[in-house]
Amino acid sequence: MNSFFELAKNRYSVRNYLDKPVEDEKLHYILEAGRIAPSAANYQPWHFIVIRELEMRKKIVETYNRPWFLQAPVIIVVCGDHRAAWKRPDGKDHCDIDIAIATDHMTLAAEDMGLGTCWICNFDAKQAIKILNLPKEIEPIVYLSLGYSGDQPDKRSRHLSRKKMEEILHWEKF
Ligand SMILES: Cc1cc2nc3c(=O)[nH]c(=O)nc-3n(C[C@H](O)[C@H](O)[C@H](O)COP(=O)(O)O)c2cc1C
Repeated sequence: MNSFFELAKNRYSVRNYLDKPVEDEKLHYILEAGRIAPSAANYQPWHFIVIRELEMRKKIVETYNRPWFLQAPVIIVVCGDHRAAWKRPDGKDHCDIDIAIATDHMTLAAEDMGLGTCWICNFDAKQAIKILNLPKEIEPIVYLSLGYSGDQPDKRSRHLSRKKMEEILHWEKF
């Protein structure tokens, strides 16, 4: 297996974090991986809000109330600027797609640094907008929890449940 596949297969959603801070160099490496992600027409419609202070993490956890979420020493709120996103001629806004790519780059970079992440989209966005003081065109799209995993290595096998290739692959036509 080459290193990309090792990285992609080893990454899984970590919902159990150690009480151990994330080193600044590692955090910057992860953010840089998000910054260099591709985007539609290279418009890069993203903003990354890094939350580390306990008081602010507690406020954000109120918008997605899970005990494990508060364990994560870092939360990156990946926001999309809909004004800055590319729109297809039929009007389709590509902001969510671009945000997903940047977020995925960050999850893989975190794995590369030995850190765990979990995508979170099931949060109260209205509350998040108030807490983060976001202007109206900026949407909080993903929370990415980040930290050292407290899981046993066997937890990883859980994420290998995926559809079979024959269920999803089509050649030439659907
Ligand atoms: C767009 C998106 C939204 C997600 N939202 C949540 C969420 O709100 N809460 C959560 O615990 N996991 C969330 N996840 C994690 C998924 O449940 C997880 O990626 C999926 O079950 C596959 O498991 P794995 O990441 O361990 O491979 C989300 C993942 C994605 C890609």
